Amino acid sequence: MACFFRREIAAQLSRIFGHKEDVFIPAISAIPVSKKQISPDFQLSVHSLVSDGLLSSDGDFKTKTELLARQIRPDNVIEEVIPSRGGIHFRINKIILAKKLLKQLHEDPQGFGVRSELFRGTHGKRTLVEFSSPNIAKKFHAGHLRSTIIGNFISNLKAALGNDVIRVNYLGDWGMQFGLLGAGYQRLGSQDKLRENPLQHLFDVYVQINREAENDETIQEDARKFFRLLEQGDEQSLLLWKQFRDITVEEYKRIYKRLGVHFDHYSGESFHQRMTQDLLQRLKDQGLLKVTEKGTGVVDISPAGDMSSYATVQRSDGTSLYITRDVAAALDRKKQYDFDEMIYVTDKSQENHFRQLFQILLAMQHPWAERCRHVPFGLVQGMSTRRGEVVFLEDVLDEARSRMLRNMSKSKTTKDLDDPEDTAEKVGVSALIVQDFKGPIKSDYKFDWDRVLQSQGDTGVFLQYTHARLCSLIRMQDGGEETSFDPQLLQDKRSILILQHMLRYDEVLSQCDQELQPRYLVSFLMTLCHLVASAHKELPVKGSPPAVAQARLHLFGGACTVLSNGMAILGITPVDKM
Ligand code: ARG
Repeated sequence: MACFFRREIAAQLSRIFGHKEDVFIPAISAIPVSKKQISPDFQLSVHSLVSDGLLSSDGDFKTKTELLARQIRPDNVIEEVIPSRGGIHFRINKIILAKKLLKQLHEDPQGFGVRSELFRGTHGKRTLVEFSSPNIAKKFHAGHLRSTIIGNFISNLKAALGNDVIRVNYLGDWGMQFGLLGAGYQRLGSQDKLRENPLQHLFDVYVQINREAENDETIQEDARKFFRLLEQGDEQSLLLWKQFRDITVEEYKRIYKRLGVHFDHYSGESFHQRMTQDLLQRLKDQGLLKVTEKGTGVVDISPAGDMSSYATVQRSDGTSLYITRDVAAALDRKKQYDFDEMIYVTDKSQENHFRQLFQILLAMQHPWAERCRHVPFGLVQGMSTRRGEVVFLEDVLDEARSRMLRNMSKSKTTKDLDDPEDTAEKVGVSALIVQDFKGPIKSDYKFDWDRVLQSQGDTGVFLQYTHARLCSLIRMQDGGEETSFDPQLLQDKRSILILQHMLRYDEVLSQCDQELQPRYLVSFLMTLCHLVASAHKELPVKGSPPAVAQARLHLFGGACTVLSNGMAILGITPVDKM
């Protein structure tokens, strides 16, 4: 929607400068609302006109700005042109604003903000997002949870902006630990327990056998043997390994569903393991594989080619490493999916790993490695549940649900819910997500259930509460599916602030997309909820004259759409009642 107004301003600049409208669009942006008074709606950054070479850098900045402002002619859309410190501010016609914005929200709720011209370039691009990627038989720790929700957010955002998104889960399903797990299962495993509670059982076996192996050479010997059999493709061993893997994937699918997350593909280290010998051969053929004194295989990734930095891709016994499998996986994905960009989401301790990975790909003459990105995030401290330290994803979800249910039982409306447990889970999960997305994702933070689940303050509970309240307001206005309304009746301060704020939605999404950071969207939605809360008090629908009620209902309906669209991108399922 903001496009229409940006275009109007760009058209004037185009007339003045004699360049195409398009070149001016990036310099025009909606002004964030201020709660005190109604600010102008848009700003033109004169600095960026200068840095883009559209305006000469000679002369006094203030004079230049004033001169340009005077050449822009106010009309029925642009009502006022105001030279200011950083550039030029514009006030637009608020009747047109109310009419156009709410009409679009009503007619194309899903397209609002995302069918903006800001995303023309990203439309139809194929993006592969790899996230979550837990390890079989090991803990699903807070880092995996963060990867899951951040990766889901990035996938949702890209999909909303018109990208063709492929969601991949790269399981830790290969490596020496499967030797131990196999040996352990042969001693301690139970098919019944595996069926009953697979993740728990595999984890228990793994922990137990690790402990026993410390003082027992024969276990270590068996583990090495089992892994060797796996690597050699022994059918019997592979069958057991495959059972572990299949059962784990099924369990994860069930739990991800509770979180509202899905994947298009479950791949993993095992699959690419098979391709590593070919890869090593290719590296050798390209003259990139060097053998060190210790007998390990390395790739020189130093800028000067002097081995001042290198990546180890082969152990001295000829076997491959984590990074070798990642190189093979990247090559295979490019072949299979022909992505335009690929995004990896893991904690920041793997930054160096991914830097090396991309450098190896570049050394192999794959320029698309420039379009691979690692999104690193910080550590979460102190996430524990009643069962103790977090081991399984399901524990976190159960804890969020039970705590939220307890908080909700204090409220009167809970008894009217059809399925309070389900609502509690959705609200609890949204609280987790918002807490995690509030700051820069690279920052570490300390986890605290009480703070996460607060209903006051900028929490996920507050977003859900505002959404439910808007839904109830809309529900109460029985059947009034009137499409027309009078924009003259939305010219008060509260209404204007909401409209102005929604005007920024596409730019906020664009910023999230450029930086792959959810915090801009979180803070946008929080502000929207605060504006709605104030408007709610001052602009009653019930008891107002029909035309006024109708107009306000449109305004609140529009706000509700933007809120629920934004929440969905964050990975939150909005609830209608709570
Ligand atoms: N399974 C790994 C871990 O838990 C994360 C995998 C990240 N992705 C990758 N392509 N290396 O640490």
